[in-house]
Amino acid sequence: MCGIVGFTGNRAAVPVLIEGLTTLEYRGYDSAGVTLQTKDGIKTVKTKGRIKVLEDKINELGSFDATCGIGHTRWATHGAPSDRNSHPHENMEGTIALVHNGIIENYLELKTALIAEGVEFKSDTDSEVVAHLFSKFYKGNGLEAMMETCKHLRGSYAIAVTCSDNKDEMICTRQDNPLIVGLGKGENMIASDIPAIMSITKDFIVVGDNEIVRVKPDSVEVFDSEGNAIEKEVQTVNWDIQGAQKEGYDHFMIKEIMEQPKAVRNTITSRITDNDMPNLMEEGVGADVFKNVRNIHIVACGSAFYAGMAGKIAFERLARIPVVANVASEFRYSDPIIDENDICLVISQSGETADTLAAMREAKARGAKTIAVVNVLASSAAREADHVIYTWAGPEIAVATTKAYSAQLSVMYLLALTAAKARGTLSDEQIAGYCRDLRDLPDMIEETLGSRETMEELAKLYHERNDSFFIGRGIDYMACQEGSLKLKEIAYVHSEAYAGGELKHGPISLIEEGTPVVALACEESLYEKQISNIKSVKARGAKVILVTNGDFDIDPDMCDHVVKIAKCPFFMAASLSIIPVQFYAYYVGVFRGCDIDKPRNLAKSVTVE
Ligand code: G6P
Repeated sequence: MCGIVGFTGNRAAVPVLIEGLTTLEYRGYDSAGVTLQTKDGIKTVKTKGRIKVLEDKINELGSFDATCGIGHTRWATHGAPSDRNSHPHENMEGTIALVHNGIIENYLELKTALIAEGVEFKSDTDSEVVAHLFSKFYKGNGLEAMMETCKHLRGSYAIAVTCSDNKDEMICTRQDNPLIVGLGKGENMIASDIPAIMSITKDFIVVGDNEIVRVKPDSVEVFDSEGNAIEKEVQTVNWDIQGAQKEGYDHFMIKEIMEQPKAVRNTITSRITDNDMPNLMEEGVGADVFKNVRNIHIVACGSAFYAGMAGKIAFERLARIPVVANVASEFRYSDPIIDENDICLVISQSGETADTLAAMREAKARGAKTIAVVNVLASSAAREADHVIYTWAGPEIAVATTKAYSAQLSVMYLLALTAAKARGTLSDEQIAGYCRDLRDLPDMIEETLGSRETMEELAKLYHERNDSFFIGRGIDYMACQEGSLKLKEIAYVHSEAYAGGELKHGPISLIEEGTPVVALACEESLYEKQISNIKSVKARGAKVILVTNGDFDIDPDMCDHVVKIAKCPFFMAASLSIIPVQFYAYYVGVFRGCDIDKPRNLAKSVTVE
């Protein structure tokens, strides 16, 4: 996964490209580069490191008068992060430059054939193959060369090319990786994601698989893989670029944690009727969808999967529908038992995660109805699912998700309540009561944001410990898994999430004097059991941080610190308990000097298997 961007217009391209790349840095940040169309031909500047390093390198070289160029920010797959493996890649003559996001699976075969034809490679990447292949087919017409090139490629890609003899033109295409074209006035952009085009426009088109686009300052032409012109629907972004800026916060992550009340409010408000009923009719998800369903299969990756695990509890306990939750990378190769009697519920912030998309396609091919819960407008999952339910969390920039996860949870509740109504497992009064609770949830999240200072202090106390545990039962266990992932992702702390009752079957041997254990106890029917589990780690020297909504007596044998949160219906508890846990992970990361918004080895959108 990488980010690509391109600009053509009548103003200086460098600042537009740099600004665009900066918004895409979440997609990869180990190296970066641009190719600019200058009066002396194309000029490529690329480097290992972040966009800032690239910007400094460009500035050192002096000013470029280019008004057209392409750029790339990389997350290495083929070839280590280095100057020479950075994109753009040029053909041998230095007249064609290319950026690529994705993986060319048959690159070796193509590379061997090209070498036999005399091509000399300068990098270890799969992407460079495409530059040489395009060059081989290029006879002055970029559209034709791209059509021919694509016939030889196997894998996933979003590609943009610029050629020195067409100074204001970019040729792009995609297959299984995102690509949009931003439509300005006398200037146009291409990019992997919407925030990258927002410096010039809010209007865009989504490039479909195998479509080829010719972009010039005054025109954007889209063709199918045979070269026939096609019409595209123009869409408009309904949020502002401020959503993608830090606005005074130290990191995007803390900003996004603080934005959670709004994210949840925006996601649920229009989906609860005046008489307190869930309403997903605009998305086509009514009673008929759930009435006779046999199983719901939830597939997702990372945090989205943990939101799905919380959803499983809501579906099973409220609507009595069996839910099979599986990480997408396992589901797709598991020969899953799923057919037209089942629903495949896919959850993804980006809507572009390769494993999640593949799992959804597998489920669809076997006849299941697909519902995608997605944050990014017009993303692949959103376009391919039978029904799409958007989480209106706004752009999420920090690699570690917070507000999108919370918005996903709220959609799980709406769906489970819709299913409960369809199946008659709850009365209308019960559903209305839960919907009123759901409407209050953003305010309760707001109140829980008050735990920030306490969690900062606790993080200061324990940030040097290299091992941590999270324990909980039922819905608390689901929140523990997400909390533990956060600590691993951004603070590089080894952390285990365990079901409270399971700890004694092995991992308790790892508890030593001073091991931090974050214990969640927010499911009333399980308080007593969880308290016993907590006491057993405390007795072995753990430092216990208890997050609870319970009114039970708390004694020194139980915990070292208590964080009280408000009571809400049991199945919504993760929406509140996750807040102090997010703060804890954030501040542990800050005190450990970690790169919070861009953790090592990670990327926000993983578009490779
Ligand atoms: C990556 C990110 C995770 C994220 C997961 C799923 O691994 O680092 O934070 O939860 O992808 O992403 P998605 O966009 O499908 O929700």
